[in-house]
Amino acid sequence: MDVFVSGLMQKMTIEEKIGQLNLITPGSDIPTGSVVSTDVESKIKNGQVGGMFGVIGPEKIRKAQELAVNESRLKIPLIFGSDVIHGHKTTFPIPLGLASSWDTGLIKKSAQIAADEATADGLNWVFSPMVDIARDPRWGRVAEGSGEDAYLGSQMAKAMVMGYQGDDLSKNNTVMASVKHFALYGASEAGRDYNTVDMSKLRMYNEYLPPYKAAVEAGVGSVMSSFNVVDGIPATGNKWLLTDLLRGEWGFDGFVESDYTSVNEMIDHGMGDLQAVSALSLKAGLDMDMVGEGFLTTLKKSLDEGKVTEEDINLACRRILEAKYKLGLFDDPFRYIDEKRAEQSILTAENRAFAREAAARSFVLLKNGKQVLPLAASKKIALVGPLANNNSNMLGTWAVSGNPQLSVGVLDGIKNVMGADVKVGYAKGANITDDAALAKKANVFGERVDIDARSPEALIAEAVSLAKDSDVVVAVVGEASEMSGEAASRSDIGLPESQKKLLAALKKTGKPLVLVVMSGRPLTLEWENENADAILQVWFAGIEAGNAIADVLFGNYNPSGKLPMTFPRNVGQIPIFYNHLPTGRPFEENSKFTTQYLDVPNEPLFPFGFGLSYTTFAYKTSQSAAEMDVQNGIVFTAEITNTGNFDGEEVVQLYIHQKVGVISRPVKELKAFKKIMVKKGETVKVDFTLTVDDLKYYHPDLDFTYDPGVFEFFIGTSSDGAFTGSFVVK
Ligand code: BGC
Repeated sequence: MDVFVSGLMQKMTIEEKIGQLNLITPGSDIPTGSVVSTDVESKIKNGQVGGMFGVIGPEKIRKAQELAVNESRLKIPLIFGSDVIHGHKTTFPIPLGLASSWDTGLIKKSAQIAADEATADGLNWVFSPMVDIARDPRWGRVAEGSGEDAYLGSQMAKAMVMGYQGDDLSKNNTVMASVKHFALYGASEAGRDYNTVDMSKLRMYNEYLPPYKAAVEAGVGSVMSSFNVVDGIPATGNKWLLTDLLRGEWGFDGFVESDYTSVNEMIDHGMGDLQAVSALSLKAGLDMDMVGEGFLTTLKKSLDEGKVTEEDINLACRRILEAKYKLGLFDDPFRYIDEKRAEQSILTAENRAFAREAAARSFVLLKNGKQVLPLAASKKIALVGPLANNNSNMLGTWAVSGNPQLSVGVLDGIKNVMGADVKVGYAKGANITDDAALAKKANVFGERVDIDARSPEALIAEAVSLAKDSDVVVAVVGEASEMSGEAASRSDIGLPESQKKLLAALKKTGKPLVLVVMSGRPLTLEWENENADAILQVWFAGIEAGNAIADVLFGNYNPSGKLPMTFPRNVGQIPIFYNHLPTGRPFEENSKFTTQYLDVPNEPLFPFGFGLSYTTFAYKTSQSAAEMDVQNGIVFTAEITNTGNFDGEEVVQLYIHQKVGVISRPVKELKAFKKIMVKKGETVKVDFTLTVDDLKYYHPDLDFTYDPGVFEFFIGTSSDGAFTGSFVVK
C-alpha cells in the first residue's frame, strides 16, 4: 500500500491532492445543512472530488465512478458514503431501540445486513455508528445513539464496527464505518442541537470518550468530527482532539472527515474567515471536508502564503488514498457496483424477517398492571391513536434510503399476525400534534404529521365510542419520527397535548388501557404511568414495526428490552443518569438539607437497565472469593430462575461501586451484562469474571489505573437494584 500510494502521489499536482480532500453531495437526497455541492460533474473530471454521499444505487454510482476513472487525469476512484444508520433499505429499529436489546450479536448482525444491502447499492462507506453518550433526552439525537452509559455504548460501538467492516474491507459486502460525532456532541448544553459543550477532562475520559475509543480499537476506518466545541475550540479544528488524542494516544490510523459544513461553521464559532478555519482544520488533523469546500477553495492559497505546508496536505491526501486502497478500489473501482446484486440482496424476505425479530427484541415493557398483556385473542380490541394506522412514521429518523410506504403499520400488523382470530376496531383519536408550526418542522422530509380535517373533539368522540364498545383499548401514541433526530430538540418531552387529551378521555371509559409508545427519546410519562394499565415502549421500530408490535402484544414474543437511557419524571430532573457521583448530603427522608427537589423525587420514572417481561425472574448471587485475585480476577455467579408462566429472555446486569477512590466514584457502574433465555420453571447460571482491568479509571493525572480497596456489587435485572455483596482488592 505504501509503495502504491507514494507512487501515485508523486504524479499528483497539489490541486489534485487537495481535490482528494473534498467530499461533496449533489443534494438530490436529504441535505441536512443549507449548502449542497454544485458543478459536480466538472469537479469530478477535474480531480476536485475525493468522495461523494447522497448518491445511491448502482446506476448513479456507476456514472459518477466512470467520470472519475475514465475522465479525470489520474483516474483515482471515488468513495461513496451514506447515512446508513439503522439498516439501509431494510430499516431496523432506530439505534436507541437496537441498544435496548442489549444484544451485541443482534446489533452486529444488523450492521452486517446493512453493509450487505448498502454495498449492493454501490456504497462503500457509512456514517455510522453514532456513539455520542447522551444524558439529556431533550436532545433529539439521542435517537441515533446507544444512550447514557459508556460501557454499554462501547459494546454497541464495537459490535457495529465489526458488523459493518467484517474482517476485510475489500470484500464487496463490507463497508468502511465512520464513528461519529467526535467528540462529546451528546453533551450539548440544554439539549439544544449544535450547542456548546464544556466538560472536565476527567468526565471526558471516564464517561464520554470510551465508546469512540472502543470503535477505534475495533478498527474503524474513519472518524467524523462533531459540530460542537471541545475545550473552547470547535472539534473540527481541534488539534488536541483530532491529533494528540485520536492518533497520538489511541493510535488511530484512518482518516477524519468533518461533519456537514462544520469547517465553514467555524466562522460563526468565531475562529476566523474561511481560509483561516480551513487551514486551522487541516493543521488540526482533519483530512476531508464535507460539503463546505473550504479546503478546495482556500488551501492552495494558504500553501502559497505559508499558512499550511505541502506536508500537511500530503498527510491528509495519503490517508484518503489509503482508505481507497483498503476498500480495494484501486484494484477495481466498480467492485461494489453490481446491478444484479442490488436486485437480489436488498429488502429480501430474510432481511425483513430479521428486522421483525430485531424490532420485537428492542421493545421495553415499562408497565404491565394486572397482567393485561399479552392480549387474549378473544378480547375485542379498540386500536386508537395517531400512530395506530400509520406507516409514514414507522422508520424513525435517519432512514435516508428507507421507504416508509414499505413499512407495516400497527393495524396491518395485528391483522397479519392474528388474521380473523381477533376483533379489532380502529379510530385515529387525535393528531400527532394540533400545532401547525410543529407539524411543519416534523414534515421536512415528507408528511409525518397530517392534521385531520375533523375537529380534535370529533376525533376523540369517535375513539371513545369505539372504546366503550370494546374490551380493551390499545392506544398507539408518541412522537412523529422527525420530532427526534437532528435539529429536533424539545423543551417539553411529554406526549403532545392533542394525545394527552385523547388518553384522558379514554381513561374515563374505564376500559383497560394499553399504551404503545413510539418515540426517539425517553418521554416524560408520569400521568401515563399512573393511568394506563400497561406501557410498551417501542421507539421507532423500522420496516416491520407493526408485525413486531403485534407479535409482542399477543405474546408470540415475550419482551426483553431494557432501557439504555433513564426516563425522567419531568424535564426539571434533566440531566439524569444512573451512574452519577454521590453528593456529600445523600437524600434522607424528612431531612430538608439533603440533596433533593422540593417538588419531585430524585428517582427517575424508569431507571437505566429497566424493562419488564411477561414472566418474572428470581436471582441468587454468589462470588468465587472475598478478595479479587490480581492475576485472575474474581467470578460472580448468578442463578436466574424463571418463576412465571412464560418462557422469556432476561438481560442479566452486573453493577459495582467503589467505596473509596482517588476521585469520587459513581454510585453505580455497569461492568458486565449478558442476555439469556430462561424457560419457565428453569434456572440458568451466568458467570461474570471481573479483573483489575475492569476497575481501572482515569485519575486526575489521566493515568488509567485502579485503586485497591472495597467494592460493592450486585447482579440484577435493572440499575436500581441494591448491593448484595462486596469484595476487596489489595
Ligand atoms: C449530521 C451527520 C451526517 C451528515 C451527513 C450531518 O448534518 O450531523 O450525522 O452524517 O449530516 O448527512
